[in-house]
Amino acid sequence: MTITIIGTGYVGLVTGAILADSFNQVYCVDIDSKKIESLNSGAIPFYEPGLAEIIKRNTSQDRLKFTTSYSESIPTSKIVLICVGTPTRENGEANLDYLFTAIEEVAQNLKEYTVLVIKSTTPIETFEKLNEIVKANTQVPYDLTSCPEFLREGSAVKDTVAPEKIVIGSSSQKATDLLLELFREFPGERIICDLPSAQMIKYAANCFLATKISYANAIANICERCGADSKVVLEGMGTDPRIGKSFLNPGVGFGGSCFPKDLKAFVKISEDLGVNFQLLEEVLKINSAQIDNFVHKITQALGSLEGKKIGILGLAFKPNTDDIREAPSLKIIDQLLSLGATVCAYDPIAVASTQKVLGEQIEYKTSAYEVAEGADALLLVTEWDEFKELDLVRIKSLMRLPFLFDGRNLYDPQTVKSLGFTYFGVGRG
Ligand code: UDX
Repeated sequence: MTITIIGTGYVGLVTGAILADSFNQVYCVDIDSKKIESLNSGAIPFYEPGLAEIIKRNTSQDRLKFTTSYSESIPTSKIVLICVGTPTRENGEANLDYLFTAIEEVAQNLKEYTVLVIKSTTPIETFEKLNEIVKANTQVPYDLTSCPEFLREGSAVKDTVAPEKIVIGSSSQKATDLLLELFREFPGERIICDLPSAQMIKYAANCFLATKISYANAIANICERCGADSKVVLEGMGTDPRIGKSFLNPGVGFGGSCFPKDLKAFVKISEDLGVNFQLLEEVLKINSAQIDNFVHKITQALGSLEGKKIGILGLAFKPNTDDIREAPSLKIIDQLLSLGATVCAYDPIAVASTQKVLGEQIEYKTSAYEVAEGADALLLVTEWDEFKELDLVRIKSLMRLPFLFDGRNLYDPQTVKSLGFTYFGVGRG
């Protein structure tokens, strides 16, 4: 099948690469000519395990192409997947400008019946407007469908190759059949439903996962005050299959390009529909308070941070990505700097993306050991595997003071305390 993907972000690029790998002819379109130029020269705009190899394999066999031109492939494409960003506006609602511009361009280039798939996360009423735009720009028959995306950064390839579910929101049997054919080889439950339900599944799922994390963080904060160990408590709780163990890891809170944005958008969507979804506002509040709690712990232990040297381990919003959007590290660094600390940091791959945002406000190091040198405290902010394997005896010997603030409960408190660290986890009694 010839397929066009609009938008070469995480969703578009990964989806395009995987669909090309299952022998479709895929064109990835982006209005950012520099990005397309760089993709055509073999560079990948972000780090995602396994993606570079798949892109290389498929571009070398001419199944995957990158272009700025809508007219090159849309006239011959059976399916167009729109994967452009829907960032947050000041008032929390999703900014749909990119989506509306993209669908207009797509509509103007249609030549025969095409299935238009919206993969971007969209408020429910968006499809009315999208239909209006398409109708105003073409007479060609089409069907507009919603296939929300559930891939996670850092495991995007795996999630796309083996999804748990494929959601197809459509009122057209013809479009549904074509999409079922496109995803024929992929495993996962098929959820065929109406358009509003498809979009709601995405918001409801992301908001629930974020709620689980904030619940875990609130429990951890109580554990901290009553001497309980949050790790034991949350694992104990998670053994109940109705609850489950995943997404109950307390820490410095969730970040990334999805949870904060989708929560804010869903609060606004609910409000516009006359439902006061206060629970989600609390989820967001708990999440931002985790950063304050973490910094408070540091100032309580160290006193004034004026002139203190703080080392940060991990900048990415989670391991296996170089993405720092809404990363807890940035908010923590911001507070530390305003309290007069000097900050140095190391991340296995997110230093370059952080440098673009923070510039020379902090010092960047090339290993955890360099960060430890002369530090008054070390802060573990992203739980990269490499940090699990650190020679902690060496780390401690390099530090000026042995304060270790573990924002992801990566270390065993007894072990690190026995090595002479003054250790603070999240909710570890
Ligand atoms: C999320 C959804 O999981 C995915 O289905 C959707 O398509 C996009 O949004 P992603 O943002 O890539 O994916 O990351 P995810 O693994 O969900 O983690 C989000 C944040 O929550 C990270 O900052 C992570 O550190 C944090 N987190 C996760 C916790 O703090 N505790 C947990 O137990 C789990």
